[in-house]
Amino acid sequence: MAGKIPQHFIDEVLARTDIVALIDARVPLKKAGKEYVARCPFHDEKTPSFTVSPSKQFYHCFGCGAHGSAIGFLMEYDHLSFPEAIEELARQAGLPMPREHTAPAEPQRRDGEEGHRLSALHAILERAARHYQIQLRRHPQRDRAVNYLKGRGISGEIAKRFELGYAPPGWHHLEEALGRGPAERALLQEAGLLTQREDGQSYDRFRDRIMFPIRDHRGRLVGFGGRLIDGDGPKYLNSPETPVFHKGEELYGLHQARQQRSLERLLVVEGYMDVIALAQHGIPYAVATLGTALTEQHLQRLYRHVDEIILCFDGDRAGREAAWRAVETLTPFLDDRRSARFAFLPQGEDPDSLIRRLGREAFEEQIARSLTFSDFLLENLTQGSDMRSTDGHARLIQKARPYLQRLPEGARREELLNRLAGRVQWSPQELARRLELPQRQRNSSRNERRGQRRPPSLIARIIAMLLQAPELAQRAGDPERLARLELPGSGLLQELIQILQQRPQTTLAMLFEHWRGRPEGQYLARIQRLIPPMEEGALVVEFQDAMERIERLIVESEVESLLKKSQNQGLSPEEKRHLQALLQAQRQG
Ligand code: UTP
Ligand code: MN
Repeated sequence: MAGKIPQHFIDEVLARTDIVALIDARVPLKKAGKEYVARCPFHDEKTPSFTVSPSKQFYHCFGCGAHGSAIGFLMEYDHLSFPEAIEELARQAGLPMPREHTAPAEPQRRDGEEGHRLSALHAILERAARHYQIQLRRHPQRDRAVNYLKGRGISGEIAKRFELGYAPPGWHHLEEALGRGPAERALLQEAGLLTQREDGQSYDRFRDRIMFPIRDHRGRLVGFGGRLIDGDGPKYLNSPETPVFHKGEELYGLHQARQQRSLERLLVVEGYMDVIALAQHGIPYAVATLGTALTEQHLQRLYRHVDEIILCFDGDRAGREAAWRAVETLTPFLDDRRSARFAFLPQGEDPDSLIRRLGREAFEEQIARSLTFSDFLLENLTQGSDMRSTDGHARLIQKARPYLQRLPEGARREELLNRLAGRVQWSPQELARRLELPQRQRNSSRNERRGQRRPPSLIARIIAMLLQAPELAQRAGDPERLARLELPGSGLLQELIQILQQRPQTTLAMLFEHWRGRPEGQYLARIQRLIPPMEEGALVVEFQDAMERIERLIVESEVESLLKKSQNQGLSPEEKRHLQALLQAQRQG
């Protein structure tokens, strides 16, 4: 497992990144004064309230409040995890990741050499995908594949979007095309594109099949599925597990679904062809597991992109059982923000056949009517228990306990509790006790929320000025003095001035990342616009004025504590002189 990424490396990555270029490549920006603006990619709006500041290396939306550094932007927009976002920026900046600090998506530890090997695997898979795509257009036997796809109603456009290809017949086609030298052959083998016979002879894994390239959520090619056109053999052949391909983690079609501007939900189906047929008929938000049951890793990935998922199952008994197994995995994920539905298809249909029969609108209507998680859970729990007998009630409670215990606390759990209570004719409170439900401790800081509504303090204004012009820190004098102040935020101000005096190039983005996950980071992000953008001269005057007031406050607090001491235990001659000097200064100041 990856360790904590060192702060200095995060700073370095941010220093080498230009947030304007990074965002502009995804959301075209317009220059407006010192900043850049666009329509916010995180909420719907007509007029642009999304701003990007090159000096702060920070983005902020006035409409929805979204904000953050380049790292935060990649996490939100590209749906990367924190380490993945850093890794991506490091890659773009040409910085090697420090040892042991790679994204947890890659299971093994990975030093420079290992990283190189994985890139080589991605690269050979890309070459194979290109090759298969070209064969679909040029190979003498291409008609077999083209006619098959046409027969299944797949347009050229969709085939292109999903990069469909054709692996021609023959045992050594790919090997001859891409495996010139022993190094390449070894790579093809490791990438799962060649299979080895017992006598050491290798041959193409995929022969005379329609090829479905599988990309991971970051768009890297990790493997293939290959469908038989006709003849003998398994209907689908998948890449084996390789250093870059883990069947239980990948979702086919996620890369394409992510291209949607506003992705609100994901439909999880079973087959490659289901994903493609759905896209063909105007449902571009379907993904497929690769012949495995839904795993925790799948769910983590899905819920990083959307809050709503719909799981499609066959309407038969096997489908119901598979759905019930999914409930097990799903339960701990379902806080109130997230939802899951279960869609059971009519007998003998799969999403591919159903969408072709019904069309998009009717299909989506049917999906919208599918069972909620709570409905499905309750249906299964009550099944087979006689609700008229106390025995049945006891059985129901016993069955429900593990699910309700693992369900996050919130409105959904409350609702389920009430519904269950109704069934067994108990009070919800009594039932909650019987189910031994864990209660979350309520420790949300009320002070913090109250603080947000206070008018900006002097300290907040000074911090905001420093964020606008970090060089002001050089005029702040020795930050140690601030330790005397016992005002909210004075500790943060002290630390901020220390950092900025030592490293004047520190941007808001770096500071924000420095305090990521702690209240200070949120606080900095919130107050960065407390003061209107000012011209440099005006800013210096304001800043000096504010610091003078700070100075007076420091003197005041010192005077106060000396006076208190003189009352309680008396002052040394030294302290007396100091107090006199301070009082004198106060009178003059
Ligand atoms: P299905 O048999 O439902 O395939 O298998 P499908 O997508 O409807 O196929 P078409 O419509 O006949 O082309 C669902 C998934 O199970 C895995 C594949 O991932 C497939 O998409 N599978 C199925 C295999 O890995 N191997 C097989 O032989 C069959
Ligand atoms: Mn099918």
